[in-house]
Amino acid sequence: DEPVEASAVPQAGTDGLVLLRRVGVVDPADLDDYRANGGYAALRRAFALGPAAVIREVLDAGLVGRGGAAFPTGRKWDATARQPERTHYLVCNADESEPGTFKDRVLMEGDPYALVEAMTIAGYAVGAHRGFLYLRGEYPRALRRLEHAIGQARGRGLLGPDVLGQGFAFDIEIRRGAGAYICGEETAIFNSIEGRRGEPRSKPPFPVEKGLFGKPTAVNNVETLLNVLPILEHGAAAYAATGTAASTGTKLFCVSGTVRRPGVYELPFGATLRELLALAGGVPEGRTLRAVLLGGAAGGFVRGDELDIPLTFEGTRAAGTTLGSGVVLVLDETVGLPRVLLRIAEFFRDESCGQCVPCRVGTVRQEEALHRIADRVGAEAAADVALLRDVGGVMRDASICGLGQTAWNAVESAIDRLGAFE
Ligand code: NAI
Ligand code: SF4
Repeated sequence: DEPVEASAVPQAGTDGLVLLRRVGVVDPADLDDYRANGGYAALRRAFALGPAAVIREVLDAGLVGRGGAAFPTGRKWDATARQPERTHYLVCNADESEPGTFKDRVLMEGDPYALVEAMTIAGYAVGAHRGFLYLRGEYPRALRRLEHAIGQARGRGLLGPDVLGQGFAFDIEIRRGAGAYICGEETAIFNSIEGRRGEPRSKPPFPVEKGLFGKPTAVNNVETLLNVLPILEHGAAAYAATGTAASTGTKLFCVSGTVRRPGVYELPFGATLRELLALAGGVPEGRTLRAVLLGGAAGGFVRGDELDIPLTFEGTRAAGTTLGSGVVLVLDETVGLPRVLLRIAEFFRDESCGQCVPCRVGTVRQEEALHRIADRVGAEAAADVALLRDVGGVMRDASICGLGQTAWNAVESAIDRLGAFE
């Protein structure tokens, strides 16, 4: 099996990495190598603490979800653990599909045992004995490595009826997506695992109360779960000493577009966009940075004169954009903005599950309007810009799930912040 492509992780082997520390360093097919590099210390500490204290550590660490929505992980775990039903589930959302996002792939391919260990800790904390790993179908190498890691962990008593001889039963089942973006929405994952159409359910009830098979379920992104390992290894206070008060720890950023060294980078929260782009080698000679799309198709643009924006959840929100799942897509002056927006609109129209009218119809109307105004500016474009605002507002207010609610974000941001179509 080939190693993780070195070019995907330009920082591999650098001192000070937390989430990427083993990627490109350990053998992803060797459990002993994982253990020799710190593996399974966190699970042992979890067993020593007990489930309630593990949740307390995660709360005190200030960990928030890395899938894009930044919900406090400890609150999610606590709410799941408190549900009176006997059966609880854990679901790891590994259906990484946001355009421009590839951090979870790098983690799963480069450090698969870490995800197995982190899922075991999460299952222990929330009282789940079964964990489902819902993996993006287009990640065959991650599938092979995770299957191997789960098999080895089972064979060595690190998964199964009596994990580490501690009387806790836990096992992991991999389920693969089949190419639908919407199947990364947490409730669509439940439907997909249950054998139904991958369509989102209305929330509330939230999964912590009524999730997979109607049971209390904690759903966490891959990167979120991997943060639990350093929290338990070093303690909540040490973890929270990195980053800012509202965004603790480090974050993986997926840098793509016009930069010299695209790839996955890990930086403490609070580093600026300028610092991240410098790490990625900046834009190539002879090109000028025009804008950066943060947060992916559901995100927003920042201009070339806004590169000092701090990369935190609160900092990007205050600047009118979002950190989302860590997409940093750099556009230079040669990139046609109308074409980029049209591509985003096509994507949402294609990926809408069609269940609710605002999104099913709105994503089509948005794409049509962008087609019409692709070559127009000023007064000629004004009527369609007004229509886009109207349709976008309805999608945001009335769609069932995040896809429809955010399908107009990037277009709105390009109009308001970059002056598209003026
Ligand atoms: P959300 O804000 O509805 O929920 C976030 C999480 O918090 C969910 O797990 C939800 O169940 C939980 N939650 C929210 N309120 C709760 C409450 N009162 N009690 C208990 N739990 C609660 O956001 P959603 O729709 O789950 O995710 C949207 C994000 O996903 C966007 O920010 C987008 O950037 C990101 N995304 C990421 C992708 C990727 O490939 N990583 C793909 C597409 C979107
Ligand atoms: Fe489906 Fe779009 Fe409605 Fe979400 S908002 S349920 S993707 S139609």
